[in-house]
Amino acid sequence: MTPLPSTSMPTILLTGATGYIASHTWLALQAAGFQVVGVDDFSNSSPEVLGRLQELSGQAPVFERASVCDAAAMAGIFGRHRIDAVVHFAAFKAVGESTAKPLDYYGNNLGGLVTTCQAMRAHGCQRIVFSSSATVYGDPASLPIREDFALSATNPYGQTKLIGETILRDLGAADPQWQTGCLRYFNPVGAHDSGRIGEDPRGTPNNLMPYVAQVAVGRRPRLSVFGNDYATPDGTGVRDYIHVVDLAEGHVAALRRLLDAPGSFTVNLGTGRGYSVLELVAAYARASGREIPYDIVPRRPGDIAACYADPALAQQLLGWQAQHGLDRMCADSWRWQHLNPHGFAAA
Ligand SMILES: NC(=O)c1ccc[n+]([C@@H]2O[C@H](COP(=O)([O-])OP(=O)(O)OC[C@H]3O[C@@H](n4cnc5c(N)ncnc54)[C@H](O)[C@@H]3O)[C@@H](O)[C@H]2O)c1
Repeated sequence: MTPLPSTSMPTILLTGATGYIASHTWLALQAAGFQVVGVDDFSNSSPEVLGRLQELSGQAPVFERASVCDAAAMAGIFGRHRIDAVVHFAAFKAVGESTAKPLDYYGNNLGGLVTTCQAMRAHGCQRIVFSSSATVYGDPASLPIREDFALSATNPYGQTKLIGETILRDLGAADPQWQTGCLRYFNPVGAHDSGRIGEDPRGTPNNLMPYVAQVAVGRRPRLSVFGNDYATPDGTGVRDYIHVVDLAEGHVAALRRLLDAPGSFTVNLGTGRGYSVLELVAAYARASGREIPYDIVPRRPGDIAACYADPALAQQLLGWQAQHGLDRMCADSWRWQHLNPHGFAAA
């Protein structure tokens, strides 16, 4: 392992730092005593996030505006800051768009990962946490999903996660000084309980809870539920929703493990409990006190019936377990949505 400075808490570089999951992780890391440096190109986030982070943490964010694909910019960042570990969030994440623009996705998601790792290697930093996804399991043969299940990808976005994991495995095989933690997120939802930061999708939300939130707040008239003829209790798709603050704590636990013990790992970050679309809609209606009108429409190509994690390995390796249930996820999402009906744009 690369030695750590003994005098101060480690400094963590967050790529994609002003995005949804990274901004919550930034606060969790600061609360745990870590120093944080953020980098983002604002391709899918707002500079307003930085002001909100300052307000919530009481600390001026250390931030660099750059693309992780820009080798010179990344070298500059590593030259200016002594980075002990990286959490690599920066990526494009819309599955449908990835099918229409595969080169953008391979270029940004994999080019960015490789450039980040090259900058790390040049500066003797060899610990990285990677944002992977449950999408790497494709359509699982059984449930709950364990980390040793077969992997597959059905779209370019999923491929970038599978190949990203492979790149990091190959790095560790070539040089055991590299320590990598691949975190396979299930379905992140919710927001910080202050209501000051949360998910702010550009255009039509790709995910269910932000869509439901925009219906509840009156930005969209109705929800389309894609299929009610799946082999699930109420026929609608079942997913493992995980509170973004729990997910953020998962990154703190993963970094502690990388910094304290040798070796690499790949773990699921999920709750282990699946909820259907209609269960989520009902919970959101309760949390918001608003009706969520919806229509049942045909299945969406590529969607699977059900997906939920076996979270035992994360508990065993990282001592981490999700704490928040669906009602809390909806309540926190709703607080963010109704206090910021147009996201950061209206700030
Ligand atoms: N939200 C989910 O449902 C989900 C699920 C599984 C995995 N993930 C992964 O987690 C990570 C974070 O997701 P999120 O939901 O917070 O997304 P997000 O879009 O809110 O955050 C990603 C951030 O990366 C930035 N970014 C993109 N390309 C960049 C580049 N080249 N240089 C610098 N910054 C760049 C964007 O501006 C954005 O702020 C992504 O890697 C995503 O694929 C997300």
